[in-house]
Amino acid sequence: MSQTSLKVLQGQRALVTGGSSGIGAAIAHAMAMAGAKVAINYLSDNSAAQSLVNEISAAGGEALAIQADVSQESSVEAMFQTVIETWGSLDIMVANAGIQQDAPFMEMTLEQWNNVLAVNLTGQFLCARAAVREFLRRGVASELSCAAGKIICMSSVHDIIPWAGHVNYAASKGGLLMFMKSLAQEVAHQKIRVNGISPGAIRTPINRAAWETPEAEAELLELIPYKRVGDPVDIGRAAVWLASDASDYITGTTLYVDGGMTLYPGFREGG
Ligand code: BGC
Repeated sequence: MSQTSLKVLQGQRALVTGGSSGIGAAIAHAMAMAGAKVAINYLSDNSAAQSLVNEISAAGGEALAIQADVSQESSVEAMFQTVIETWGSLDIMVANAGIQQDAPFMEMTLEQWNNVLAVNLTGQFLCARAAVREFLRRGVASELSCAAGKIICMSSVHDIIPWAGHVNYAASKGGLLMFMKSLAQEVAHQKIRVNGISPGAIRTPINRAAWETPEAEAELLELIPYKRVGDPVDIGRAAVWLASDASDYITGTTLYVDGGMTLYPGFREGG
């Protein structure tokens, strides 16, 4: 039996930022199928968020679309207030919203640097802080979960693999790794679990150029020992497990869901 048919998140309330497309949409869907009520945050694509809400409802789940810019404090606060007013509290927060604005280092503008840090790092800070405040206000609800709350920080293999031409992005993800671990250390005694998921190359709009032609995909597969590009569902499943009591003793850890991308594939024959 799969973990979604087991409804391992039954009755819990989840918020997924950047939930209207790509990895976020797959996580929102997987959590809803595992029994959670899911708030789907989006920045601008209201119709994508709404159609995911409809898809989840048609499959017997419960979801809600909420517009917010995760880099803006007042916007984040209003979003959490909406979730808490609607469902009474929050049990799971997936800080997934992230952007890339790539440029060769010499040409990278301050705006590109600031935009990426604002969403990928400050956005996770603002959402995690709001989540921790709510988890501590409510405490453990043992009929729902062993923990007072679970935070999943969506990172990237580029929290440990350097990435030329993407210095702002890699810096944001490297920063996120220490953010996640430091927060996990700070709140573990309050029964809050904080973990990261670091996806490799997953087939989504953010990296379309890397897989959309057969030539690009063949080049990408050179970096992936498992020899397939990831599917958003691969991340959805990992997120359900990391949010569920099946992973109750895990905190401060990063799950690399990358088909082996972080295994230095060049060393299989080299070195
Ligand atoms: C990036 C993708 C990239 C992948 C592997 C992700 O974090 O957003 O663009 O394909 O890492 O390099």
